[in-house]
Amino acid sequence: MASQAPLPPFAAVIVAAGKGLRIGGEVPKQFREFKGKPLVRHSVEKLLAAGADPLVDAIPSDAEDLARTCLAGLDGVDFVIGGETRRESVRNGLTSFVPDKPQYVLIHDAARPDIPLEVIERLLSALDEHAGAIPVLPVVDTLAIASERNTHHGNADRETLRRVQTPQAFRGPDIMAAHFGQYYPEGAPEPTDDAQVLMSYDLATNRSVAFVQGDERLKKITFAEDLMETATAPAFRVGQGFDVHRLVEGEELWLCGIQLEHTHGLAGHSDADVALHAITDAVLGAIGNGDIGTHFPPSDPQWAGARSGQFLENAVKLARDARYALSNIDLTIICEAPKIGPHRPAMRTRVSELTGLGEVAVSIKATTTERLGFTGRGEGIAAQAIVGLVRLGD
Ligand code: CTP
Ligand code: MG
Repeated sequence: MASQAPLPPFAAVIVAAGKGLRIGGEVPKQFREFKGKPLVRHSVEKLLAAGADPLVDAIPSDAEDLARTCLAGLDGVDFVIGGETRRESVRNGLTSFVPDKPQYVLIHDAARPDIPLEVIERLLSALDEHAGAIPVLPVVDTLAIASERNTHHGNADRETLRRVQTPQAFRGPDIMAAHFGQYYPEGAPEPTDDAQVLMSYDLATNRSVAFVQGDERLKKITFAEDLMETATAPAFRVGQGFDVHRLVEGEELWLCGIQLEHTHGLAGHSDADVALHAITDAVLGAIGNGDIGTHFPPSDPQWAGARSGQFLENAVKLARDARYALSNIDLTIICEAPKIGPHRPAMRTRVSELTGLGEVAVSIKATTTERLGFTGRGEGIAAQAIVGLVRLGD
């Protein structure tokens, strides 16, 4: 849709001072790569192209060099240091507008890379009649209220509820008065957007906030899977895992999640199920997410004697979080004794239960090493696995 009229002049604050805790990782999400450039650069470019002037970016106090690198070559960006909360980051951004006193201000999350121009048009035109305007979307799912025990406690009426996005647009003097005048005592609930700040400030003056139609493209990048581009993430990935445990007397022998009768068992911190460890490492390898020791450190007493099935179940869940499902497993157990053949059906069933794969997709093979090496001498058992993962649909 072509834009009807030029946009009125507006200033913009982009908040990029969060820690990105839900996404994890060393570098906050706004400075990570998304579709070929740093996440923050997407919204800065879009708002500059829409005419934002001035545009201020609130960044973490220790990230100035990083932010400048991410936005290199873009003219018209000022930086301020953000605060402990999103609200404080916005307020710090607005402070830099005090001399200009812009008529209209757009406030936006750096974590929302795509900003359709139509949404900016709708927001700014709503400011003719309202002190603020925010993009909203209907709620389509049933909304249930959780009890303290995380059980069903009732329902909320979704008809009256909306999902709220950014950018949010305000008349400059109103939003600045609300942010600068508002006092949030310690422990008071923190507003997560600026419409809340405006509405909770001096309601007597009747500053209304209009709802304009939001857009799914304004989706916020919040979790690790949001950063993974489904469009370019490979349709198929593979991973391999390898593990060895020592055979000793007096230990239980667990392989592929079942217990085997044998003169010796495997020693290790957990149940030492070398086969499940190899499969788990293969799954983690396929999604590039560390190895079994990263997720279940042997130094952690809670894993002492642990059943290794839970390691594998956890790795499968991590793969699912990264939007991949296992397609098949090919495992080789390397030992002189016990004989694996008789146990193969039970092993396949157990691995299939742990992974959700059909048994036809679980291959369990075994070999000796012709009495050569540590496996040949019966000192230990080795296992190696390859897994395939397929990308889940959107
Ligand atoms: N933000 C900010 N200053 C803060 C907290 C958040 O500028 N003290 C910004 C974030 O950088 C982000 C936007 O507010 O662009 C929305 O916040 P959110 O998605 O919650 O990001 P984070 O707080 O960084 O992530 P998390 O809550 O997972 O830690
Ligand atoms: Mg946050």
